[in-house]
Amino acid sequence: MKKLMIMTLMALAGCAATPGTEPYKDASLSVERRVEDLLRRMTLEEKVGQMNQFVGIEHIKANSGVLTEEELKTNTAQAFYPGIGPDTVLRWAEEGRIGSFLHVLTPEEANLLQEHVMRARLGIPAIFGIDAIHGNANAPGNTVYPTNIGLASSFNPELARRIARETAREMRAMNMHWTFNPNVEVARDARWGRCGETFGEDPWLVACMGLATTEGYQGALNSTQDVLACAKHFVGGSQPVNGTNGAPCDVSERTLREVFFPPFRTNIVRGGAGSLMTSHNELNGIPCHENEWLMEEVLRGEWGFDGFVVSDWMDIEHLYDLHATAENLKEAFYRSIMAGMDMHMHGLHWNELVCELVREGRIPESRIDASVRRILTAKFRLGLFEHPYADLDAQQTRLCAEHRATALDAARQSVVLLKNDGLLPLDAAKYRRILVTGINADDENILGDWSASQDPEDVTTILEGLRQVAPGVRFDFVDQGWDPRNMDPAKVAEAAAKARQADLNIVVAGEYMMRRRWMERTCGEDTDRDNIALVGLQQELIERVAASGKPTLLVLVNGRPLGVEWAAEHLPAIVEAWEPGMAGGRAVAEILFGEVNPSAKLPITIPRSAGQIQVYYNHKPSHYFHPVVCSDPEPLYPFGHGLSYTTFAYSDLTLSHETIAPDGRLTAEVTVTNTGKRDGTEIVQLYIRDLFSSVTRPVKELKAFSRESLKAGESRRVRFEITPEMLSMLDRNLQPIVEPGEFRVMVGPSSRDKELLTQTFEVCEQ
Ligand code: BGC
Repeated sequence: MKKLMIMTLMALAGCAATPGTEPYKDASLSVERRVEDLLRRMTLEEKVGQMNQFVGIEHIKANSGVLTEEELKTNTAQAFYPGIGPDTVLRWAEEGRIGSFLHVLTPEEANLLQEHVMRARLGIPAIFGIDAIHGNANAPGNTVYPTNIGLASSFNPELARRIARETAREMRAMNMHWTFNPNVEVARDARWGRCGETFGEDPWLVACMGLATTEGYQGALNSTQDVLACAKHFVGGSQPVNGTNGAPCDVSERTLREVFFPPFRTNIVRGGAGSLMTSHNELNGIPCHENEWLMEEVLRGEWGFDGFVVSDWMDIEHLYDLHATAENLKEAFYRSIMAGMDMHMHGLHWNELVCELVREGRIPESRIDASVRRILTAKFRLGLFEHPYADLDAQQTRLCAEHRATALDAARQSVVLLKNDGLLPLDAAKYRRILVTGINADDENILGDWSASQDPEDVTTILEGLRQVAPGVRFDFVDQGWDPRNMDPAKVAEAAAKARQADLNIVVAGEYMMRRRWMERTCGEDTDRDNIALVGLQQELIERVAASGKPTLLVLVNGRPLGVEWAAEHLPAIVEAWEPGMAGGRAVAEILFGEVNPSAKLPITIPRSAGQIQVYYNHKPSHYFHPVVCSDPEPLYPFGHGLSYTTFAYSDLTLSHETIAPDGRLTAEVTVTNTGKRDGTEIVQLYIRDLFSSVTRPVKELKAFSRESLKAGESRRVRFEITPEMLSMLDRNLQPIVEPGEFRVMVGPSSRDKELLTQTFEVCEQ
């Protein structure tokens, strides 16, 4: 009787009699077939388990430890780690209650967790997700590249693709299969601490860099060298009402479709990004985590997204305990799933409450099946069933020479020379004694946000880079500590005194981003500000050092634009290093001493102050109709700006046609000449304006760019094709259209009007 019951149960669950022969385990079958076979064998609990993502055991141990008794009593702390220990997590894994892990930082732990997951009835491997934003930097022992804002400064999508590919290899070596990147939000507010995680303010540049990143991670999404990309955060989180992370976003559907959607659309439609993460914030009154219009109509309906949607960290819970659109947790889960959510990122009660919702008939099981299908498809495509574990003896790809070389190359391409009155490049024979000071002069903080501490042997700080590049120079270092909020006035005075003895001074200032000191940071996730001046005594340090009368230059290490107006007026040179990664110190030193000629350009406008926000180059015509009084209306440095040690001249902008049909194409050509004495690389930028239109259009929009390396004295005709897509706008009904009328083409070295050559052409009625 008992035997019969077991057989009936097995038949109900759809199990094949002989283990190992089930079709879902057969790698020669199609992914669709394997998914369907597995799905029909799964119980409701197992399905809901696939939709559950949880932190690993080391994360729990580390973070429970740092919570105080008091914090442990609060709801939030309990919701994170409610007295559960590693044993509970392992048991849940074996019961098939966890389909994905995050925040696992070593291949040993990933393998251990996977081993427990594989013991569950059907042996469905977990997918491991991690915030590998600029290399798998959150985990020690990996290559750390510049963060996205620096990478975008290179205007080099191929570089982004290479970095993503290398990151994928390092991740797979560690049994990590899914990165929560690219962040393709359009950043227009420098107060927001996450600007450094984005590719800046321009929808086209963000789309190009994001697309290359997605393609680099995913490859064909069919090998053990590929990882799943996650386009995030959908959407509007980069434009919070007051600049603080997670605050409401109130924007029109037009602005969404013209500015914030395009990079997501490109990553989904062209890049085939396999997953997407929703954004903390509410969008026009509806939290993104329960926004059916976003997830179902736009993402799946309009863009044909066939990957899965993951929530952000405990944000479904926030429908209840923050946004208050749901009266309890169960209702929050219900609302999110019915709006299109597939996976829940960390938190308790998911499994029980979602199963209850299905048993009560509120959520149809077919709705759960749809999510599980998408998640399983990713797991099969990534080859997890065949390769659930990392080979612990094959870790050599991590931090290999090739990847380190890319990190250095990327840092060289990402450092922007903002100002140079001729001081740079430095002559090592002239400046024999140099004072180096500032919070970021000799600190791992150059690694940036989303990075763990790395072995100091693998990180070149700026001071170390200077010593390597100019061994004959005496560098006097006055350590200001790492903490801008707690600088020591005596150390500032010491630097001021030493500056007088030096031939030249280098102040390395900026923000503090390292996650290991979460509460002390001044920039990064959940670290927003209401002004964008230098924090602490940094401004005083710069002014007192400069008062020595010796040439003083400023190097900035930061993730958000900083309003360094005083420095821009008084210092001869400023270098924006962003968060340049582990080779950043070397790259900065090479640029300062002229071993490398800088080529990067700003992917985001640098405002003079927080009061100028929102300031972005692609604004509407009336944005500055009445400029503010008592102030300079221009930003400190515009989008696209960046200097070189050589000079480039632009001439002879020509268009192939004076008129075209709405579906026609034309080409623009311009001559770019390296008029200086050094070889150099110029980022040639093409902007377009629709001069008269039925709805208002920006004064200019970047539509193409090209990195041109030119020998000293060399000239080149640079050619751009202008397509109907570049001329298209949304009409009053939000439908794409190319409107007849005049268009202006602008080509030059930045978005600044006075540097741009212009030509016009006409789109005629068909
Ligand atoms: C962030 C996400 C990130 C997630 C997991 C959240 O706080 O907003 O970008 O992927 O944590 O670390």
